[in-house]
Amino acid sequence: MMSSENSMINFRKMQQRLQNQSLATLCKSIAISGLFLFLFYTFFFNHLNYNHSSDDFLSHFKVVTMNNLSPPKIIDNSRTNISHIVFGIAGTVNGWKFRKSYIESWWRPNVTRGYLFLDRPPTQEFLPWPASSPPFQVNENITGLKAFQNIQKKFQIRLFRTILETFRLVGDRDVRWFVMGDDDTVLFVDNLVEVLAKYDHTQHLYIGTNSECVSSNVYASFGMAFGGAGYALSYPLAEALVAKLDVCIQRYHDLYASDLMLYSCLADLGVAALTREQGFHQIDLHHDISGLLSAHPQVPVISLHHMDVVNPIFPSMNRYKSINHLMKAAEVDSSRLLQQSVCYNRQSNWSISVSWGYSAHVYENIYSRNFLIKPLETFRPWRRSDRPPLYMFNTRPLTRNSCEVPHVFFFDSMENLRGNQVVLTYIRSSPRNLPPCPATGNHSADVIDKIQVFSPATERKRVGIMECCDIEHIAYMNVTDVKLRACTEDDSI
Ligand SMILES: *[C@@H]1O[C@H](CO)[C@@H](O)[C@H](O)[C@H]1NC(C)=O
Ligand SMILES: *[C@@H]1O[C@H](CO)[C@@H](O)[C@H](O)[C@H]1NC(C)=O
Ligand SMILES: *[C@@H]1O[C@H](CO)[C@@H](O)[C@H](O)[C@H]1NC(C)=O
Ligand SMILES: *[C@@H]1O[C@H](CO)[C@@H](O)[C@H](O)[C@H]1NC(C)=O
Ligand SMILES: *[C@@H]1O[C@H](CO)[C@@H](O)[C@H](O)[C@H]1NC(C)=O
Ligand SMILES: *[C@@H]1O[C@H](CO)[C@@H](O)[C@H](O)[C@H]1NC(C)=O
Repeated sequence: MMSSENSMINFRKMQQRLQNQSLATLCKSIAISGLFLFLFYTFFFNHLNYNHSSDDFLSHFKVVTMNNLSPPKIIDNSRTNISHIVFGIAGTVNGWKFRKSYIESWWRPNVTRGYLFLDRPPTQEFLPWPASSPPFQVNENITGLKAFQNIQKKFQIRLFRTILETFRLVGDRDVRWFVMGDDDTVLFVDNLVEVLAKYDHTQHLYIGTNSECVSSNVYASFGMAFGGAGYALSYPLAEALVAKLDVCIQRYHDLYASDLMLYSCLADLGVAALTREQGFHQIDLHHDISGLLSAHPQVPVISLHHMDVVNPIFPSMNRYKSINHLMKAAEVDSSRLLQQSVCYNRQSNWSISVSWGYSAHVYENIYSRNFLIKPLETFRPWRRSDRPPLYMFNTRPLTRNSCEVPHVFFFDSMENLRGNQVVLTYIRSSPRNLPPCPATGNHSADVIDKIQVFSPATERKRVGIMECCDIEHIAYMNVTDVKLRACTEDDSI
């Protein structure tokens, strides 16, 4: 069965395709059957009330899966860029004081398109509304609407309807993707564009990631894009969803979260298969997430979330400064941001693991990459009561073994050098306070105060492949240089 909207759309597309051909007869018969379908379903929809039985409901949703016409031709096959993305950010007036800095850290006035949605008009303290913030909209007040009168969880419904309201505001003015996020979602825009550009925006796509915590996925769904991490809906998917969104609310208003309503609704539309991108991060974690950010997978980092909940990611700075500090590195080379490289110094039996723009860890031992790509478990799960398995990935437990505990350095400053190089300086965060590792020759790394990481300024890192590096350390010197380069066969250990 096909909906009136879809049959109309497909009808129009078909008409376009046939326009320049001499198949007028075929055209006419399609037009007539299209019109017939349209009238029939308009009638059908107008008579569908909200107290439908579940059978009615399901037939209502057989839209996308039953659409067996070939997808529309890609007319504009130019590469996806920032102008093709529209952002919908769900916030509140009360929270904006605290969240504004996170959004402004990535929002680019006159470049990024989209809106911040608020629960009510901003109060005097926020006016005049600055150009550095996304333009605001006030969500439609659903309190008075008859269809929603018996619904309790108005907050979640407001968030969910932000998709619909964003869609209605921008129409189809050269939009390929809708990216939805919370007011504490920090996005790395260039990486987001790069990742979305891989996909065919004319297909029905739902792109995001689930939670780091097993329990969060158990409560919601393993197949759900968590809203705080941000997610992308292709234009045709958003269009199909918006047509059914208020019907979905009727059905799923009891669910505790708007992202779960969306997931459930998409499942019923037959397009729930989440396309997972590991660069989105819900951060359903507490405490110190440096272990995770020091061992990011070899894909572009797209988002961070819950920065109010975890410790500041740079221990010497507050939360806002920390995010802006990371953004400085992102602006210079987003392709390398948080990308891990591992190299070795055989003379002193050291391994160095660098997370570009974030941290450097020096181990007084030779560890394989396979070991070092597992995040150190510096963080705690979202819920105190959680029992193992806690996380969706393997971790390394913290120990006091001096051979396993790294010397930790954080990104401090950067400089552009002549010869197309960038040098990032990482400073020791605190003394390790452990004796040297006896098993590997007692080569203490306590002397190092600073690590300088050199990388190419113009050559972007390739997705999916780790970069290697060389360590240049002169014994007893307090600065160690690390030079990033492509790996060779000699680098395998
Ligand atoms: C993005 O691509 C469109 C063509 O599809 C072009 O008109 C527009 O200027 C581009 N925007 C940017 C920021 O490059
Ligand atoms: C954005 O565009 C408007 C109108 O074109 C202009 O007045 C304003 O200065 C621009 N703002 C920035 C931050 O570039
Ligand atoms: C929404 O509408 C109801 C009545 O229809 C009103 O009581 C309420 O104050 C409105 N809320 C906002 C945020 O405007
Ligand atoms: C490195 O450690 C190994 C033991 O893992 C040891 O046999 C070797 O002598 C050490 N090399 C140096 C230069 O200390
Ligand atoms: C390292 O130092 C410890 C304690 O000083 C000593 O017992 C051990 O033999 C040393 N190991 C090596 C390989 O020199
Ligand atoms: C590193 O050593 C140099 C020369 O010995 C010294 O001037 C400098 O202050 C040291 N740096 C740090 C961060 O301790």
